[in-house]
Amino acid sequence: MERRIEVGILGATGMVGQHFVKFLQNHPWFDVKWVGASDRSVGKKYRDAAKWHLGGTTPENVADLTVEECKPGNAPRLLFSATDSSVATEIEQSLAKAGHVVVSNSRNHRMDADVPLLVPEINADHLKLIPRQQALRGWSGQIATNPNCSTVVLTMGVAPLKPFGLKRIVVTTLQAISGAGYPGVPSMDISANVIPFIGGEEEKMEIETQKILGDMNGDQVRPLAAKVSAHCNRVPVVDGHLVTVSVELENKPSEADLRQAFERFRGVPQERKLPSAPERPVQYMPDQDRPQPRKDVERERGMAVFVGRLRSCPVLDYKFIALGHNTVRGAAGAAALNAELMYSEGLLD
Ligand SMILES: NC(=O)c1ccc[n+]([C@@H]2O[C@H](COP(=O)([O-])OP(=O)(O)OC[C@H]3O[C@@H](n4cnc5c(N)ncnc54)[C@H](OP(=O)(O)O)[C@@H]3O)[C@@H](O)[C@H]2O)c1
Repeated sequence: MERRIEVGILGATGMVGQHFVKFLQNHPWFDVKWVGASDRSVGKKYRDAAKWHLGGTTPENVADLTVEECKPGNAPRLLFSATDSSVATEIEQSLAKAGHVVVSNSRNHRMDADVPLLVPEINADHLKLIPRQQALRGWSGQIATNPNCSTVVLTMGVAPLKPFGLKRIVVTTLQAISGAGYPGVPSMDISANVIPFIGGEEEKMEIETQKILGDMNGDQVRPLAAKVSAHCNRVPVVDGHLVTVSVELENKPSEADLRQAFERFRGVPQERKLPSAPERPVQYMPDQDRPQPRKDVERERGMAVFVGRLRSCPVLDYKFIALGHNTVRGAAGAAALNAELMYSEGLLD
């Protein structure tokens, strides 16, 4: 690429916004030139508006940008969105209507029938929803979304098994505290404890998984017919969502077939060598006590999902665990990969 593409971040001062700033800092294609947030921050320098919660200091490439209002005006065409979900619907729609390409982390539009909910290795073809979205809504811009952070880990873990006919999926999550934003869960609740409830999370995992693993049928997504049951828990881990999964499969494959399916799994981002794509998106770890959040979550720049402990299940067919970086593969890195995919499809032209 001769010249990097100027991009903006909506909700740049928040926790997810800061992860965007960090992830995009040295991106080979995208250059953050614009930041937006609420009235509380508008007009201030980014370094003053955003109390930097991540390691190090506020990155120099954004520190002196002036925070702008999240509305059509002078923002670049490509906008990553991390705005509060109470305002994301209106903000994202007004920008898409005005011609912006909004690549969103917020939950607001994920389940809209004409909005792609992307995991590029799994369902790059769901971008075919965009022309329908533009025609239906009369937008010159567009909105694409990435899933909830625990759904990304689950779907990457089970997508390699789709050719064996996914029938039933039971998943239990052990989710890191960084997934709850800042200040997040009170320390008195999470220290040396497990919180067996995350509001709305189980429902999101169940329906988002069916949409992501669904097939295009004309200009609509036909959701995966498999039943999905999720139990979600918050655990005292800083980064990395670990999920334990049991699956029932239609064609009874061998354990070796499954291992091979994990290892051979590749998608469009790997074919096109997109900059944020891990070479091997799903990696099987043979040691019986891996993957582990503290030891494995940073591998492959946080963009791969690690699978382990594959064994037969006396209730369904097989069970295994999967680990992914919730703020990278589950948030900023996911959206960056979505935007790279959209660029490679010509949707940013
Ligand atoms: N991928 C995932 O699974 C995942 C994980 C976590 C969060 N999320 C989603 O990401 C979004 C941000 O979460 P967060 O934890 O980063 O929240 P946060 O720390 O509270 O940040 C919210 C951001 O939205 C801005 N904002 C608030 N009200 C606004 C308004 N009226 N107009 C414009 N901007 C406004 C805030 O600006 P000020 O600083 O000026 O107030 C801030 O930049 C949410 O929609 C959340 O659901 C997704």
